[in-house]
Amino acid sequence: MQQPEYPDPEALQRALDELAALPPLVTSWEIVALKEHFAQAAAGRCFVLQGGDCAERFADCNSRRIANQLKVLIQMSLVLVQGTQKPVVRVGRFAGQYAKPRSADFEEVNGQRLPAYRGDLVNRPEPSPEARTPDPSLLLRGYERAALTLNFIRALVKGGFADLHHPEYWDLDWTRHSPQADEYHRMLRSITESLRFMENILGTSAAGSDRIDFYTSHEALMLPYEQAQTRRVPHRPGWFNLSTHFPWVGIRTASPEGAHIEYLRGISNPVGVKIGPGLSTDEILRIAERLNPANEPGRLALIHRYGAARIAAELPPVIEAMRREGRAVLWICDPMHGNTRRTLNGYKTRSFDDIESELSQAIDIHPQCGSILGGMHIELTGENVTECTGGARGLCEADLGRAYESEVDPRLNYEQALELALLVARRWRTNGR
Ligand code: PEP
Ligand code: CO
Repeated sequence: MQQPEYPDPEALQRALDELAALPPLVTSWEIVALKEHFAQAAAGRCFVLQGGDCAERFADCNSRRIANQLKVLIQMSLVLVQGTQKPVVRVGRFAGQYAKPRSADFEEVNGQRLPAYRGDLVNRPEPSPEARTPDPSLLLRGYERAALTLNFIRALVKGGFADLHHPEYWDLDWTRHSPQADEYHRMLRSITESLRFMENILGTSAAGSDRIDFYTSHEALMLPYEQAQTRRVPHRPGWFNLSTHFPWVGIRTASPEGAHIEYLRGISNPVGVKIGPGLSTDEILRIAERLNPANEPGRLALIHRYGAARIAAELPPVIEAMRREGRAVLWICDPMHGNTRRTLNGYKTRSFDDIESELSQAIDIHPQCGSILGGMHIELTGENVTECTGGARGLCEADLGRAYESEVDPRLNYEQALELALLVARRWRTNGR
């Protein structure tokens, strides 16, 4: 499902052969380490923060945007460390999030029937037949952009960008004016003071406090792209998708008997599946059985996205069924994709209150059902966009036109993302576990 029709299959094969011969983007050591973190998160010993753009654009592969994305994720994660009192594992939706599922294969623009835009990995958004024709060379351009992104992230991290002793490195200019600035800076001070206290007691610097690791993830939608980067490695059994640490399958391609689940079944990475309305409990059980027959801890994340109005009724039976069958699952809440709607003037948007409500309900529902919420999955950007309504600045529908950039789903802007982390941290202190 959701695969484009390439007009020239031989050109596609040439691109895939080239892709298959290029070096991997990540290593099996890192993948195995993330799986171990996921096992810890499933057991309630750490928390996963997964976030980034709905779709990365090739044109946005520049230093400012990448650094801003990291800054928001670091800031949110520190707030969550404070709130949950657990280590936080950071997983970006980046370095490969270039392909999008679409509800229709074609769309009508100015009376012309055109193939849908499926993300920069496949075609281009301009409404012309040339731009919309799937182009296999974009698979290579995507791999290169992913490599450039990852190279910059690794260099920043290694160079001390994420050093907890230097929060000023990842302060964003407009943090100062944000309605949440005071609360954020109070939390940050408490973290740096605790760190100094620890270091004074130990007489040495706390191991690892000078670097924060990032893992990568993307939707494993374009199967030829994923398959060309699926390899064996020396000294470890099995196959690894070496284009990312954590591939997930979206809800539109999550059919238990479909090709995408079959692909995930064959690899050793930790894998995710989006679940929500439209997938029955029975189908979710079949997915879990297929993807993790040995019940390996950390192997399977179910990323639930029911929407604020439905989570209370629809999530508990799924949790109950997994428990009854003894299925090991890392539960991650995606409060974005069940809450998308269109405004009268045509913008796709989400309300901050719905997002916050779904996440708060998830924090309460899991302990009530005897399960553990191990992470959250957010669409956000470090830019000052106006795509989601609400938040402390009270963005309303009339504001959306001001800085709406997304070609696909609406993202939380920097302030809204930080505000969400602060609300989660507060709620976790009273209701989470
Ligand atoms: C997404 O994560 O951007 C997405 C398309 O999600 P879902 O599969 O949950 O609709
Ligand atoms: Co999205």
